[in-house]
Amino acid sequence: MTETLVPSASASDGPAAPKRLFIKTYGCQMNVYDSERMADVLRPLGYAATDTAESADFVILNTCHIREKAAEKIYSELGKLRELRDIRLAAGQPGLTIAVAGCVAQAEGEEIMRRQPAVDIVVGPQAYHQLPELLTRTARARGERIGADFAPVEKFDALPKARGVTGPTAFLTVQEGCDKFCTFCVVPYTRGAEWSRPVAAVLAEARELAARGVREVTLLGQNVNAYDGEGLDGAPSTLARLAYALADIPGLDRIRYTTSHPNDMSDDLIAAHGELDALMPWLHLPVQSGSDRVLRLMNRKHGRTKYLALIDRIRAVRPDMALSGDFIVGFPGETDADFEQTLDLVRRVGYASAFAFAYSPRPGTPAASMAGPVPAAIARERLHALQALLAEQQLAFNMDKTGRTVDVLFEKPGRHGRQAIGRSPWLQSVHADDADHLIGRIVPVLIKHGQQNSLKGRLMEMALDGA
Ligand code: SAH
Ligand code: SF4
Ligand code: F3S
Repeated sequence: MTETLVPSASASDGPAAPKRLFIKTYGCQMNVYDSERMADVLRPLGYAATDTAESADFVILNTCHIREKAAEKIYSELGKLRELRDIRLAAGQPGLTIAVAGCVAQAEGEEIMRRQPAVDIVVGPQAYHQLPELLTRTARARGERIGADFAPVEKFDALPKARGVTGPTAFLTVQEGCDKFCTFCVVPYTRGAEWSRPVAAVLAEARELAARGVREVTLLGQNVNAYDGEGLDGAPSTLARLAYALADIPGLDRIRYTTSHPNDMSDDLIAAHGELDALMPWLHLPVQSGSDRVLRLMNRKHGRTKYLALIDRIRAVRPDMALSGDFIVGFPGETDADFEQTLDLVRRVGYASAFAFAYSPRPGTPAASMAGPVPAAIARERLHALQALLAEQQLAFNMDKTGRTVDVLFEKPGRHGRQAIGRSPWLQSVHADDADHLIGRIVPVLIKHGQQNSLKGRLMEMALDGA
Protein backbone atom coordinates (compact mmCIF):
# COMPACT_ATOMS: atom_id res chain seq x y z
CA MET A 1 0.00 0.00 0.00
CA THR A 2 2.92 2.33 0.58
CA GLU A 3 3.11 3.09 -3.14
CA THR A 4 -0.04 5.15 -2.71
CA LEU A 5 1.72 7.42 -0.23
CA VAL A 6 2.32 10.78 -1.86
CA PRO A 7 4.54 12.95 0.35
CA SER A 8 7.41 13.02 -2.12
CA ALA A 9 5.13 13.70 -5.09
CA SER A 10 4.46 17.29 -4.11
CA ALA A 11 8.19 17.85 -3.62
CA SER A 12 9.23 16.44 -6.99
CA ASP A 13 6.32 17.86 -8.98
CA GLY A 14 7.05 21.42 -7.85
CA PRO A 15 4.83 23.42 -5.55
CA ALA A 16 1.27 22.10 -5.49
CA ALA A 17 -1.72 24.43 -5.09
CA PRO A 18 -1.92 25.36 -1.41
CA LYS A 19 -4.39 23.21 0.47
CA ARG A 20 -5.97 24.31 3.68
CA LEU A 21 -6.33 22.10 6.72
CA PHE A 22 -8.56 22.82 9.70
CA ILE A 23 -8.26 20.55 12.73
CA LYS A 24 -10.78 20.98 15.50
CA THR A 25 -9.61 19.41 18.74
CA TYR A 26 -11.76 18.08 21.56
CA GLY A 27 -10.83 16.29 24.79
CA CYS A 28 -7.53 15.96 26.59
CA GLN A 29 -3.97 17.20 25.98
CA MET A 30 -3.18 13.92 24.25
CA ASN A 31 -5.56 15.01 21.51
CA VAL A 32 -3.88 18.43 21.36
CA TYR A 33 -0.56 16.65 20.81
CA ASP A 34 -2.11 14.31 18.23
CA SER A 35 -3.63 17.26 16.33
CA GLU A 36 -0.24 18.94 16.12
CA ARG A 37 1.25 15.70 14.83
CA MET A 38 -1.53 15.29 12.24
CA ALA A 39 -0.63 18.75 10.94
CA ASP A 40 3.03 17.62 10.84
CA VAL A 41 2.10 14.53 8.82
CA LEU A 42 0.06 16.53 6.32
CA ARG A 43 2.44 19.46 5.90
CA PRO A 44 4.63 17.59 3.35
CA LEU A 45 1.46 17.08 1.27
CA GLY A 46 1.10 20.83 0.98
CA TYR A 47 -1.50 21.33 3.69
CA ALA A 48 -1.23 24.59 5.58
CA ALA A 49 -3.23 25.32 8.72
CA THR A 50 -6.31 27.50 8.68
CA ASP A 51 -8.59 28.29 11.59
CA THR A 52 -12.08 27.90 10.19
CA ALA A 53 -13.89 25.10 8.40
CA GLU A 54 -15.17 27.66 5.88
CA SER A 55 -11.65 28.36 4.66
CA ALA A 56 -10.55 24.69 4.61
CA ASP A 57 -10.29 21.98 1.97
CA PHE A 58 -9.81 19.31 4.59
CA VAL A 59 -11.39 19.28 8.05
CA ILE A 60 -10.41 16.86 10.78
CA LEU A 61 -12.46 16.59 13.95
CA ASN A 62 -10.14 15.13 16.59
CA THR A 63 -12.72 13.81 18.98
CA CYS A 64 -13.23 12.82 22.59
CA HIS A 65 -15.46 10.03 23.83
CA ILE A 66 -15.12 10.56 27.56
CA ARG A 67 -18.61 11.90 28.29
CA GLU A 68 -21.80 11.63 26.28
CA LYS A 69 -21.97 15.35 25.55
CA ALA A 70 -18.46 15.32 24.10
CA ALA A 71 -19.33 12.50 21.72
CA GLU A 72 -22.74 13.86 20.68
CA LYS A 73 -21.24 17.26 19.82
CA ILE A 74 -19.39 15.55 16.98
CA TYR A 75 -22.56 14.58 15.16
CA SER A 76 -23.95 18.12 15.17
CA GLU A 77 -20.59 19.42 14.01
CA LEU A 78 -20.57 16.85 11.20
CA GLY A 79 -24.04 18.00 10.15
CA LYS A 80 -22.71 21.54 9.71
CA LEU A 81 -19.71 20.34 7.72
CA ARG A 82 -21.96 18.37 5.43
CA GLU A 83 -24.01 21.50 4.72
CA LEU A 84 -20.85 23.42 3.96
CA ARG A 85 -19.73 20.69 1.57
CA ASP A 86 -23.13 20.53 -0.17
CA ILE A 87 -23.23 24.31 -0.67
CA ARG A 88 -19.82 24.18 -2.33
CA LEU A 89 -20.75 21.27 -4.55
CA ALA A 90 -24.00 22.98 -5.59
CA ALA A 91 -21.94 26.02 -6.56
CA GLY A 92 -19.74 23.83 -8.74
CA GLN A 93 -16.77 24.22 -6.39
CA PRO A 94 -14.59 21.43 -5.02
CA GLY A 95 -16.27 19.96 -1.96
CA LEU A 96 -14.74 19.34 1.41
CA THR A 97 -12.89 16.32 2.71
CA ILE A 98 -14.07 15.39 6.19
CA ALA A 99 -12.23 13.15 8.64
CA VAL A 100 -13.12 12.04 12.13
CA ALA A 101 -10.11 11.16 14.26
CA GLY A 102 -9.56 10.51 17.96
CA CYS A 103 -11.49 8.49 20.50
CA VAL A 104 -15.00 8.68 18.99
CA ALA A 105 -13.49 7.37 15.75
CA GLN A 106 -11.98 4.47 17.66
CA ALA A 107 -15.09 3.72 19.72
CA GLU A 108 -17.85 4.15 17.15
CA GLY A 109 -16.28 4.22 13.70
CA GLU A 110 -19.04 2.19 12.06
CA GLU A 111 -21.73 4.33 13.62
CA ILE A 112 -20.11 7.52 12.38
CA MET A 113 -20.15 6.27 8.80
CA ARG A 114 -23.77 5.19 9.20
CA ARG A 115 -25.01 8.38 10.87
CA GLN A 116 -23.08 10.76 8.65
CA PRO A 117 -22.22 9.40 5.21
CA ALA A 118 -20.53 12.70 4.31
CA VAL A 119 -17.55 11.56 6.39
CA ASP A 120 -14.69 10.46 4.13
CA ILE A 121 -12.18 9.15 6.64
CA VAL A 122 -12.44 7.63 10.09
CA VAL A 123 -9.06 7.24 11.70
CA GLY A 124 -8.29 6.05 15.24
CA PRO A 125 -5.65 7.49 17.59
CA GLN A 126 -3.06 4.89 16.61
CA ALA A 127 -3.47 5.24 12.86
CA TYR A 128 -3.28 8.94 12.03
CA HIS A 129 0.24 8.62 10.66
CA GLN A 130 -1.57 6.97 7.75
CA LEU A 131 -3.55 10.11 6.91
CA PRO A 132 -1.56 10.73 3.70
CA GLU A 133 -2.44 7.28 2.44
CA LEU A 134 -6.04 7.55 3.57
CA LEU A 135 -6.41 10.91 1.83
CA THR A 136 -5.05 9.49 -1.39
CA ARG A 137 -7.45 6.60 -1.28
CA THR A 138 -10.31 8.93 -0.48
CA ALA A 139 -9.61 10.89 -3.58
CA ARG A 140 -10.22 7.67 -5.52
CA ALA A 141 -12.98 6.02 -3.61
CA ARG A 142 -14.87 8.25 -1.22
CA GLY A 143 -16.22 6.76 1.95
CA GLU A 144 -13.56 4.20 2.72
CA ARG A 145 -12.94 3.39 6.33
CA ILE A 146 -9.71 2.14 7.85
CA GLY A 147 -9.57 0.60 11.29
CA ALA A 148 -7.10 1.44 14.00
CA ASP A 149 -5.68 -1.86 15.06
CA PHE A 150 -2.09 -0.72 15.19
CA ALA A 151 0.35 -0.47 18.05
CA PRO A 152 1.46 3.07 18.97
CA VAL A 153 5.05 2.16 18.09
CA GLU A 154 4.22 2.08 14.38
CA LYS A 155 2.68 5.50 14.58
CA PHE A 156 5.59 7.11 16.40
CA ASP A 157 8.11 5.52 14.04
CA ALA A 158 6.19 6.87 11.07
CA LEU A 159 5.72 10.45 12.28
CA PRO A 160 8.01 13.13 10.88
CA LYS A 161 10.89 14.03 13.19
CA ALA A 162 10.37 17.76 12.81
CA ARG A 163 7.51 19.34 14.66
CA GLY A 164 5.79 22.58 13.71
CA VAL A 165 5.89 23.90 17.26
CA THR A 166 6.29 27.67 17.58
CA GLY A 167 5.94 28.82 21.22
CA PRO A 168 8.26 28.09 24.18
CA THR A 169 6.07 25.30 25.60
CA ALA A 170 5.14 21.97 24.05
CA PHE A 171 3.40 18.70 24.77
CA LEU A 172 5.33 15.48 24.28
CA THR A 173 3.55 12.14 24.37
CA VAL A 174 5.62 9.52 26.21
CA GLN A 175 2.98 6.97 27.17
CA GLU A 176 -0.38 5.94 25.82
CA GLY A 177 -3.23 3.74 26.85
CA CYS A 178 -4.54 2.44 30.11
CA ASP A 179 -4.75 -0.93 31.86
CA LYS A 180 -6.67 0.35 34.88
CA PHE A 181 -10.25 -0.14 33.71
CA CYS A 182 -12.00 2.26 36.04
CA THR A 183 -15.61 1.18 35.66
CA PHE A 184 -16.80 4.54 34.31
CA CYS A 185 -14.11 5.14 31.71
CA VAL A 186 -13.79 4.54 27.96
CA VAL A 187 -10.06 5.25 27.69
CA PRO A 188 -8.84 1.61 28.01
CA TYR A 189 -11.16 0.84 25.07
CA THR A 190 -10.31 3.85 22.90
CA ARG A 191 -6.58 4.12 23.55
CA GLY A 192 -5.71 0.49 24.15
CA ALA A 193 -3.22 -1.04 26.57
CA GLU A 194 -0.50 0.89 28.40
CA TRP A 195 2.51 1.43 26.18
CA SER A 196 5.59 3.64 26.67
CA ARG A 197 7.89 5.16 24.06
CA PRO A 198 11.60 4.30 24.40
CA VAL A 199 13.74 6.88 26.23
CA ALA A 200 15.88 7.45 23.11
CA ALA A 201 12.82 8.43 21.04
CA VAL A 202 11.56 10.80 23.73
CA LEU A 203 14.98 12.42 24.14
CA ALA A 204 15.33 12.87 20.38
CA GLU A 205 11.97 14.61 20.15
CA ALA A 206 12.77 16.76 23.18
CA ARG A 207 16.12 17.83 21.72
CA GLU A 208 14.38 18.80 18.52
CA LEU A 209 11.88 20.86 20.53
CA ALA A 210 14.64 22.53 22.57
CA ALA A 211 16.44 23.44 19.34
CA ARG A 212 13.26 25.23 18.28
CA GLY A 213 13.25 27.31 21.45
CA VAL A 214 11.00 25.18 23.63
CA ARG A 215 11.81 25.79 27.31
CA GLU A 216 9.07 23.73 28.92
CA VAL A 217 7.74 20.29 28.00
CA THR A 218 4.68 18.61 29.42
CA LEU A 219 5.06 14.85 29.15
CA LEU A 220 1.75 13.29 28.26
CA GLY A 221 0.25 9.92 28.96
CA GLN A 222 -3.13 8.60 30.04
CA ASN A 223 -1.15 7.08 32.91
CA VAL A 224 2.05 8.97 32.47
CA ASN A 225 3.60 7.96 35.80
CA ALA A 226 3.27 4.29 34.79
CA TYR A 227 5.91 5.13 32.16
CA ASP A 228 8.31 2.20 31.67
CA GLY A 229 9.84 2.85 28.27
CA GLU A 230 13.03 1.10 27.27
CA GLY A 231 16.03 2.94 28.69
CA LEU A 232 19.31 3.65 26.92
CA ASP A 233 20.75 0.58 28.66
CA GLY A 234 17.95 -1.62 27.34
CA ALA A 235 16.25 -1.96 30.74
CA PRO A 236 12.89 -0.35 31.46
CA SER A 237 13.20 3.24 32.64
CA THR A 238 10.95 5.08 35.07
CA LEU A 239 9.35 8.48 34.62
CA ALA A 240 11.73 9.92 37.21
CA ARG A 241 14.77 8.69 35.28
CA LEU A 242 13.33 10.04 32.07
CA ALA A 243 12.84 13.42 33.78
CA TYR A 244 16.50 13.51 34.89
CA ALA A 245 17.65 12.73 31.34
CA LEU A 246 15.39 15.43 29.89
CA ALA A 247 16.62 17.98 32.41
CA ASP A 248 20.14 17.52 30.97
CA ILE A 249 19.06 18.86 27.58
CA PRO A 250 20.36 22.44 27.31
CA GLY A 251 17.49 24.93 27.17
CA LEU A 252 14.87 22.61 28.62
CA ASP A 253 14.30 24.28 31.97
CA ARG A 254 10.88 23.07 32.93
CA ILE A 255 9.29 19.64 32.94
CA ARG A 256 5.73 18.71 33.80
CA TYR A 257 3.80 15.51 33.29
CA THR A 258 0.15 14.54 33.18
CA THR A 259 -2.04 12.55 33.94
CA SER A 260 -0.86 10.54 36.90
CA HIS A 261 -2.57 7.70 38.71
CA PRO A 262 -2.17 7.54 42.50
CA ASN A 263 -1.10 3.88 42.36
CA ASP A 264 1.80 4.65 40.02
CA MET A 265 3.26 7.48 42.12
CA SER A 266 6.56 5.71 42.81
CA ASP A 267 9.12 6.59 45.48
CA ASP A 268 11.74 7.68 42.95
CA LEU A 269 9.27 10.05 41.29
CA ILE A 270 8.31 11.59 44.62
CA ALA A 271 11.98 11.93 45.53
CA ALA A 272 12.71 13.58 42.18
CA HIS A 273 10.28 16.35 43.10
CA GLY A 274 12.53 17.20 46.00
CA GLU A 275 15.78 17.07 44.01
CA LEU A 276 15.24 18.04 40.40
CA ASP A 277 14.75 21.79 39.93
CA ALA A 278 13.40 21.34 36.40
CA LEU A 279 10.50 19.27 37.70
CA MET A 280 7.80 21.87 38.28
CA PRO A 281 5.81 21.84 41.54
CA TRP A 282 2.55 20.96 39.85
CA LEU A 283 0.85 17.58 39.91
CA HIS A 284 -2.43 16.45 38.38
CA LEU A 285 -3.37 13.46 40.49
CA PRO A 286 -7.05 12.59 40.05
CA VAL A 287 -8.78 10.75 42.88
CA GLN A 288 -12.36 10.85 41.47
CA SER A 289 -14.11 10.40 44.83
CA GLY A 290 -13.42 10.73 48.54
CA SER A 291 -15.58 7.77 49.48
CA ASP A 292 -13.98 4.34 49.84
CA ARG A 293 -17.25 2.69 48.91
CA VAL A 294 -17.52 4.65 45.66
CA LEU A 295 -13.81 4.19 44.92
CA ARG A 296 -14.36 0.45 45.14
CA LEU A 297 -17.34 0.63 42.77
CA MET A 298 -15.16 2.68 40.43
CA ASN A 299 -12.44 0.00 40.55
CA ARG A 300 -9.89 2.68 41.37
CA LYS A 301 -7.76 0.21 43.36
CA HIS A 302 -6.89 2.82 45.99
CA GLY A 303 -8.76 4.17 49.02
CA ARG A 304 -8.98 7.66 50.50
CA THR A 305 -6.48 6.93 53.28
CA LYS A 306 -3.86 5.80 50.80
CA TYR A 307 -4.46 8.88 48.65
CA LEU A 308 -4.21 11.27 51.61
CA ALA A 309 -1.03 9.57 52.83
CA LEU A 310 0.42 9.90 49.34
CA ILE A 311 -0.33 13.64 49.33
CA ASP A 312 1.47 13.93 52.68
CA ARG A 313 4.54 12.17 51.29
CA ILE A 314 4.61 14.43 48.24
CA ARG A 315 4.25 17.56 50.36
CA ALA A 316 7.01 16.37 52.67
CA VAL A 317 9.51 16.66 49.79
CA ARG A 318 7.83 19.55 48.00
CA PRO A 319 5.73 21.63 50.45
CA ASP A 320 4.64 24.12 47.78
CA MET A 321 3.29 21.46 45.39
CA ALA A 322 0.23 22.69 43.49
CA LEU A 323 -2.21 19.81 43.39
CA SER A 324 -4.76 19.31 40.69
CA GLY A 325 -7.33 16.58 40.21
CA ASP A 326 -10.49 15.23 38.64
CA PHE A 327 -13.70 14.32 40.44
CA ILE A 328 -16.85 12.54 39.36
CA VAL A 329 -20.08 13.23 41.24
CA GLY A 330 -23.31 11.27 40.88
CA PHE A 331 -21.61 7.93 40.26
CA PRO A 332 -24.23 5.14 40.48
CA GLY A 333 -25.01 4.46 44.13
CA GLU A 334 -23.34 7.64 45.45
CA THR A 335 -25.16 8.78 48.60
CA ASP A 336 -25.13 12.15 50.34
CA ALA A 337 -22.71 10.64 52.87
CA ASP A 338 -20.38 9.50 50.07
CA PHE A 339 -20.47 12.95 48.57
CA GLU A 340 -19.68 14.51 51.97
CA GLN A 341 -16.59 12.31 52.03
CA THR A 342 -15.52 13.83 48.72
CA LEU A 343 -15.98 17.37 50.06
CA ASP A 344 -14.05 16.38 53.16
CA LEU A 345 -11.15 14.98 51.13
CA VAL A 346 -11.04 18.14 49.03
CA ARG A 347 -10.88 20.26 52.21
CA ARG A 348 -8.04 18.13 53.55
CA VAL A 349 -5.97 18.25 50.37
CA GLY A 350 -6.53 21.86 49.27
CA TYR A 351 -6.33 21.90 45.46
CA ALA A 352 -4.72 24.60 43.36
CA SER A 353 -7.18 23.77 40.60
CA ALA A 354 -9.31 20.76 39.82
CA PHE A 355 -12.08 19.56 37.56
CA ALA A 356 -15.41 18.15 38.64
CA PHE A 357 -17.73 16.27 36.31
CA ALA A 358 -21.21 14.82 36.61
CA TYR A 359 -21.09 11.10 35.90
CA SER A 360 -21.99 10.29 32.30
CA PRO A 361 -22.81 6.64 31.53
CA ARG A 362 -20.70 5.35 28.64
CA PRO A 363 -21.97 2.39 26.62
CA GLY A 364 -19.90 -0.74 27.15
CA THR A 365 -18.38 0.31 30.46
CA PRO A 366 -19.31 -1.67 33.61
CA ALA A 367 -20.71 1.34 35.47
CA ALA A 368 -23.26 1.99 32.73
CA SER A 369 -25.28 -0.99 33.97
CA MET A 370 -24.73 -0.46 37.71
CA ALA A 371 -27.65 -0.13 40.10
CA GLY A 372 -28.72 3.12 41.75
CA PRO A 373 -28.35 5.83 39.13
CA VAL A 374 -28.30 9.24 40.80
CA PRO A 375 -31.08 11.59 39.61
CA ALA A 376 -29.71 14.32 37.35
CA ALA A 377 -30.95 17.12 39.61
CA ILE A 378 -29.06 15.71 42.61
CA ALA A 379 -25.91 15.15 40.56
CA ARG A 380 -26.12 18.76 39.36
CA GLU A 381 -26.52 20.04 42.91
CA ARG A 382 -23.47 18.07 44.05
CA LEU A 383 -21.51 19.23 41.04
CA HIS A 384 -22.23 22.88 41.86
CA ALA A 385 -21.32 22.42 45.52
CA LEU A 386 -18.03 20.74 44.65
CA GLN A 387 -17.20 23.28 41.94
CA ALA A 388 -17.86 26.12 44.40
CA LEU A 389 -15.47 24.58 46.94
CA LEU A 390 -12.80 23.99 44.28
CA ALA A 391 -13.17 27.58 43.00
CA GLU A 392 -12.74 28.86 46.56
CA GLN A 393 -9.55 26.82 46.93
CA GLN A 394 -8.22 27.98 43.59
CA LEU A 395 -8.77 31.63 44.51
CA ALA A 396 -7.05 31.10 47.87
CA PHE A 397 -4.10 29.41 46.17
CA ASN A 398 -3.77 32.27 43.67
CA MET A 399 -4.21 35.02 46.28
CA ASP A 400 -1.49 33.42 48.37
CA LYS A 401 1.05 34.40 45.69
CA THR A 402 0.27 38.13 46.08
CA GLY A 403 3.37 40.08 47.08
CA ARG A 404 5.71 37.24 46.11
CA THR A 405 8.22 37.14 43.31
CA VAL A 406 7.74 34.19 41.01
CA ASP A 407 9.60 32.96 37.92
CA VAL A 408 7.39 33.29 34.86
CA LEU A 409 7.97 31.67 31.48
CA PHE A 410 6.34 34.11 29.06
CA GLU A 411 4.48 32.28 26.30
CA LYS A 412 2.44 34.69 24.22
CA PRO A 413 1.26 38.27 23.84
CA GLY A 414 -1.71 39.36 25.94
CA ARG A 415 -4.77 41.21 24.73
CA HIS A 416 -3.80 44.70 25.87
CA GLY A 417 -0.90 46.78 24.58
CA ARG A 418 2.47 45.18 25.21
CA GLN A 419 1.11 42.74 27.77
CA ALA A 420 2.48 39.19 27.82
CA ILE A 421 1.04 36.03 29.35
CA GLY A 422 3.11 33.31 30.90
CA ARG A 423 3.04 30.56 33.49
CA SER A 424 4.26 30.37 37.05
CA PRO A 425 6.00 27.20 38.27
CA TRP A 426 2.57 26.19 39.66
CA LEU A 427 0.97 26.46 36.21
CA GLN A 428 -0.87 29.66 37.06
CA SER A 429 -1.44 32.01 34.17
CA VAL A 430 0.42 35.29 34.82
CA HIS A 431 -0.29 38.56 33.01
CA ALA A 432 2.32 41.34 32.99
CA ASP A 433 2.39 44.71 31.18
CA ASP A 434 5.28 45.80 28.92
CA ALA A 435 6.60 42.25 28.77
CA ASP A 436 6.01 41.22 25.14
CA HIS A 437 9.77 41.38 24.43
CA LEU A 438 10.27 38.63 27.03
CA ILE A 439 8.31 35.87 25.29
CA GLY A 440 10.33 32.67 25.49
CA ARG A 441 12.21 33.81 28.58
CA ILE A 442 11.89 32.96 32.27
CA VAL A 443 11.75 36.18 34.27
CA PRO A 444 11.08 37.08 37.91
CA VAL A 445 7.73 38.80 38.29
CA LEU A 446 6.29 40.49 41.36
CA ILE A 447 2.71 39.33 41.84
CA LYS A 448 0.35 42.24 42.52
CA HIS A 449 -2.98 40.38 42.58
CA GLY A 450 -4.03 36.78 42.72
CA GLN A 451 -7.36 36.36 40.92
CA GLN A 452 -9.72 33.45 40.30
CA ASN A 453 -8.08 32.18 37.11
CA SER A 454 -4.82 34.11 36.85
CA LEU A 455 -2.24 36.31 38.52
CA LYS A 456 -1.47 39.90 37.67
CA GLY A 457 2.20 40.76 38.00
CA ARG A 458 4.78 43.41 37.34
CA LEU A 459 8.26 42.90 35.95
CA MET A 460 10.84 43.14 38.71
CA GLU A 461 12.85 46.02 37.19
CA MET A 462 9.65 48.03 37.01
CA ALA A 463 8.76 47.10 40.53
CA LEU A 464 12.21 48.17 41.72
CA ASP A 465 11.89 51.43 39.79
CA GLY A 466 8.56 52.00 41.49
CA ALA A 467 7.07 52.41 38.01
N1 SAH B 1 -6.18 9.06 32.75
C1 SAH B 1 -6.71 10.05 33.55
C2 SAH B 1 -7.91 10.80 33.00
C3 SAH B 1 -8.86 10.17 32.11
S1 SAH B 1 -10.22 11.06 31.55
C4 SAH B 1 -6.98 9.48 34.91
O1 SAH B 1 -6.91 8.31 35.13
O2 SAH B 1 -7.28 10.24 35.80
C5 SAH B 1 -10.29 12.57 32.40
C6 SAH B 1 -11.33 12.62 33.47
O3 SAH B 1 -12.64 12.52 32.92
C7 SAH B 1 -11.27 11.54 34.49
O4 SAH B 1 -10.28 11.75 35.45
C8 SAH B 1 -12.65 11.54 35.08
O5 SAH B 1 -12.75 12.43 36.15
C9 SAH B 1 -13.50 12.05 33.93
N2 SAH B 1 -14.35 10.99 33.39
C10 SAH B 1 -13.96 9.86 32.80
N3 SAH B 1 -15.03 9.11 32.46
C11 SAH B 1 -16.13 9.79 32.87
C12 SAH B 1 -17.53 9.52 32.83
N4 SAH B 1 -18.01 8.40 32.31
N5 SAH B 1 -18.36 10.46 33.35
C13 SAH B 1 -17.88 11.59 33.88
N6 SAH B 1 -16.58 11.89 33.95
C14 SAH B 1 -15.70 10.99 33.45
FE1 SF4 C 1 -9.78 6.04 32.66
FE2 SF4 C 1 -9.17 5.09 35.04
FE3 SF4 C 1 -7.54 4.67 33.01
FE4 SF4 C 1 -7.78 7.08 34.02
S1 SF4 C 1 -6.98 5.29 35.10
S2 SF4 C 1 -7.78 6.56 31.87
S3 SF4 C 1 -9.92 7.19 34.60
S4 SF4 C 1 -9.59 3.86 33.23
FE1 F3S D 1 -11.17 12.01 25.47
FE2 F3S D 1 -9.77 10.11 24.35
FE3 F3S D 1 -8.57 11.98 25.74
S1 F3S D 1 -11.75 9.89 25.29
S2 F3S D 1 -10.08 12.48 27.28
S3 F3S D 1 -9.68 12.29 23.88
S4 F3S D 1 -8.03 9.85 25.66
